Amino acid sequence: MRLSGKIALVTGGTSGIGEGIARRFGAEGATVVLTGRRADLGDQIAKEIGAATFVPGDLTSPETRHALVAAVEAHGGLDVLVNNAAAFGDTLTDQVTDDEFDRIVGLNFRAAYLVTRDVVPYLIRKPGGRIVNISSIGVTRAWPGASVYNASKAALESLTQTWAHEYGPYGLTANALTLPIVDAPMSLAAREHVDLEAIPSRRIGTVADVADMAVFLAGDESGYLNGARIPLDGGQTA
Ligand SMILES: NC(=O)c1ccc[n+]([C@@H]2O[C@H](COP(=O)([O-])OP(=O)(O)OC[C@H]3O[C@@H](n4cnc5c(N)ncnc54)[C@H](OP(=O)(O)O)[C@@H]3O)[C@@H](O)[C@H]2O)c1
Repeated sequence: MRLSGKIALVTGGTSGIGEGIARRFGAEGATVVLTGRRADLGDQIAKEIGAATFVPGDLTSPETRHALVAAVEAHGGLDVLVNNAAAFGDTLTDQVTDDEFDRIVGLNFRAAYLVTRDVVPYLIRKPGGRIVNISSIGVTRAWPGASVYNASKAALESLTQTWAHEYGPYGLTANALTLPIVDAPMSLAAREHVDLEAIPSRRIGTVADVADMAVFLAGDESGYLNGARIPLDGGQTA
């Protein structure tokens, strides 16, 4: 029960990594607020976690963000924010439409920024606040077709460092988990092309690997780790 008594907000909690983190946080004693557009899934996951509230809606809309703040208020505060919700794109730059650009940047960068802006006053009410940003290996290891996605994650990693400076003095830490292909839905199509020989740990990372690190970053043991971009990649960038 390493997160006992903590209140955590996980964006994109209806599938994959966000769902895994939300469930694990609940198992570690946290009260969890999770978000996503798929209300049926979100309600079911919240029910299974127990001490959890699902806030349905598109994170790019102000109404959803207001509802999240209301949920945080209802729980009496916030200790942990996990910026996990994200959209992917697989389009060469000269083919990217305005809509695709806005969809990816609007969620991965703009919404993450605005959600953080809205809830950080709760995170700094007392020392121990935590921000965990879910990023991608694409920030430093690019591939064709991911220009908007990779740049949006670079923005999130940059924010990680600025937030460490802005709110570190209040006892908050902000860290990023920089993930390669993980056994989770967003990378389903790419997984069959993974060369295990190129991964020192000789396996693909799992949602459980990410949840383990998220628990550490959300908990009291990581208090002096701040502004870090952590490559959770089985040694792929070593
Ligand atoms: N899977 C990988 O291999 C991998 C690798 C590197 C980094 N990552 C990062 O890890 C995170 C999770 O990946 P994943 O594979 O678990 O993805 P996923 O299964 O596709 O989950 C994405 C989550 O974001 C939510 N979401 C998407 N658009 C939204 C919107 N407009 N408003 C609100 N919520 C929205 C989805 O919920 P709804 O559909 O219900 O809205 C879902 O809960 C992302 O930040 C991703 O960039 C993943």
